[in-house]
Amino acid sequence: MIEYENLQKVNEPFFADYRKAFTDVMQGGWYILGKAVEKFEQEFAGYCGVRHCIGVASGLDALTISLEVFRFKPGSEVIVPSNTYIATILSIIHCGLKPVLVEPDIKTYNIDPAKIEDAVTSKTAAIMPVHLYGKICHIDPIMEIANRRGLKVIEDCAQAHGSKYKSKKAGTFGHCNAFSFYPTKNLGALGDAGAVVTDDGDLAEQIRMFRNYGSKTKYYNEVVGYNSRLDELQSAFLSVKLKKLDDINNHKRKLAAIYLEKIKGDFVKPVVQKDYYDTYHIFNIRHSQRDKLKKYLLEHGIKTEVHYPVPPHKQNALKGMFNNNSYPISEEIHATTLSLPISYGHDEKNIYEVAEKINGFK
Ligand SMILES: Cc1ncc(COP(=O)(O)O)c(C=O)c1O
Repeated sequence: MIEYENLQKVNEPFFADYRKAFTDVMQGGWYILGKAVEKFEQEFAGYCGVRHCIGVASGLDALTISLEVFRFKPGSEVIVPSNTYIATILSIIHCGLKPVLVEPDIKTYNIDPAKIEDAVTSKTAAIMPVHLYGKICHIDPIMEIANRRGLKVIEDCAQAHGSKYKSKKAGTFGHCNAFSFYPTKNLGALGDAGAVVTDDGDLAEQIRMFRNYGSKTKYYNEVVGYNSRLDELQSAFLSVKLKKLDDINNHKRKLAAIYLEKIKGDFVKPVVQKDYYDTYHIFNIRHSQRDKLKKYLLEHGIKTEVHYPVPPHKQNALKGMFNNNSYPISEEIHATTLSLPISYGHDEKNIYEVAEKINGFK
């Protein structure tokens, strides 16, 4: 059986260092927002190439707090890709703002900048580009529209740790930018964790306040904040794994190159573009008989996933929110996409085997 992902296997190379990190934190006697958090925040800011990193409790919180700090007028509109994971949309709703869905480019699966301009109204406050599957969005035109229209940009980097466009990493383009360290991510913790990164010192200070009950000084609360603090333990584990993030990304890129070369036939593979360094958080292919292909692979001992089976506008939770608008590109992606095994725990042999089985699909 080739599993889609085995987190025990992914984390095994780090077990010895994790044990030491655990002991240090346990014996240190300080468990939330302490030295290990500060250390990881500095290291991750350095890795991304930004001035500030603020650890929070999850990727969703990183997105929500990133929006909060701008204090947009209630009901302001935020542009977001129609095929994103629901978290991006929930962060907008949690802040009392209105998500406006814009279709992706069918080749990259990322928001189509050509369609953003049409969606901008006098109520638009921000754009949230999502670097889906580990590929950076077509970011230059997005920033151009945002700058010209006076909009804020909050990158959703939950799937793009270390991804680059023209040697600039995810998290360095927008005003403040959100990461998730959910365990399956390329930089995954051993539980929930997230971070906001920014070059703006004032925003960083606001985010620090919002994550800790809206407080700068203990027991004095300036704003209606959150309890979204990062644990010392998760930070210590993240510092261990961050040292190997480039190895993890390179490993996944090597495996992706095998899929790209070996998979033949009428499967739509991810595009590879000049100037883009993709980190393949997810390696997807598309096929009109996706469900049949998934079943066939399972019968041949290969587990796959679908990211995602239901587009956000069709989720029960969001029913009625988008005026029955249709999002055909998004629906096409959701109906045809299949995510193949690709992780630090897989080796080249696994990937050759998966590719060979895919090529045998009739
Ligand atoms: C694109 C995207 N945004 C946001 C999130 C939310 O992150 P978390 O689960 O850490 O809250 C995820 C998590 O899967 C994601 O894939």
